[in-house]
Amino acid sequence: METKDQQYQIQGVSLIELTNQFGTPLYVYDGQKILDQVKQLQDAFSTVKLKIKYATKALSNINILKLMKKAGTGVDAVSIEEVRLCLHAGFAPNEIMYTPNSVSFEEIQEAVALGVMINIDNIPMLEHFGTYYGHQVPICIRLNPHILAGGNAKISVGHIDSKFGISILQLKHVLKVVEAYDLNVIGLHVHTGSDILDAEVFLKGAEILFDAAREFKGLKFLDFGGGFKVAYKPGDISTDIKEVGNKVSAAFKNFCQEYGSDLEIWFEPGKFLVSESGYLLVKTNVVKSTPASTFVGVDSGLNHLIRPMMYDAYHSVVNISRLEGPERVYTIVGYICETDTIAADRKLKEVKEGDILAIKNAGAYGFSMSSNYNSRLRPAEVLILDGKAHLIRERETFEDILRHQVDIGL
Ligand code: LLP
Repeated sequence: METKDQQYQIQGVSLIELTNQFGTPLYVYDGQKILDQVKQLQDAFSTVKLKIKYATKALSNINILKLMKKAGTGVDAVSIEEVRLCLHAGFAPNEIMYTPNSVSFEEIQEAVALGVMINIDNIPMLEHFGTYYGHQVPICIRLNPHILAGGNAKISVGHIDSKFGISILQLKHVLKVVEAYDLNVIGLHVHTGSDILDAEVFLKGAEILFDAAREFKGLKFLDFGGGFKVAYKPGDISTDIKEVGNKVSAAFKNFCQEYGSDLEIWFEPGKFLVSESGYLLVKTNVVKSTPASTFVGVDSGLNHLIRPMMYDAYHSVVNISRLEGPERVYTIVGYICETDTIAADRKLKEVKEGDILAIKNAGAYGFSMSSNYNSRLRPAEVLILDGKAHLIRERETFEDILRHQVDIGL
């Protein structure tokens, strides 16, 4: 988002104009920013055989998926519905990694039938898989590296108490199952968590995976998951992707040499690719002063962006209706019947009723985690590409609230 001609713009498109055209609340994505992020990651790992598997769950609009495909990524899907969405968006089955958790064997079978790579994260499932498919269908195994890292307890998933993956301490058991069923393991996977700043954490995950990989023959790839941090707060820094690239690539090359095979290295970033591209534009319904604070009440809330409530996440907010003038401190709240504070005690250009606020870093886990709570409608989505705004999802209507409800005639 830049300022030009007294306006906030993306690729020369005025954000205020977009709200005039499409209304509020509105999700807006800067397609060029997404392409730049993909390129950054590709460049950081240019000396190894990198495969990016974009974490679909972060932002799953089919146009975003198509943009990723154009940029040369594959995808990671965590549900059979995401698998179908990715196929619908044009990904070939072999570009899709399916990383489910706590799903039924029937869902795994469905995914096998669709021809995607299956990432198995528990021992009973390995056994079912072995009984049913034996060596026929290649698989990846998700290991839990027991690393505690990530921006928040709720998004740290690689520690010992986490439900995800097979404990690295159970590797011997895994090897026995692999042998007993003659499983065709071609990949190993770890994902430590989300919002990880430190390159050393990725390196530590890599070392753990190398140790495990030494026990397997015939591997074709190692998947290090996602989790790169993006800068949410002013003064925050993002993961130094070049540093991660240099360090992890060097270690990876050494490992490949030792292993005697030129393996692929996979990453599954969500936030890194789409978070900063996204803005949630909301309209001020009320400015309300109490003896304690001044609240700005907007036409959105936890139903559209749950991250502040769910993870105490910080999202920068800008009053894009005013470039100049005095600043005041506000607490920005939603219209939901809950204490849905979006941002507390923020300095903004003086806010008036009707002003449009831009909530930044809303690309990842924004729309994709939205709901109809309070029977509110979900926002429209707009993608800006080559200086043009495209509506990529229509705003919901009241009919959507009633859809699938069955009136039993009471
Ligand atoms: N791979 C796997 C197996 C994952 O579970 C995740 C995220 C990713 C990749 C992508 O992680 P990322 O690069 O986006 O950090 N809703 C939370 C984040 C939950 C992440 C869940 N898994 C948030 O808004 O912070």
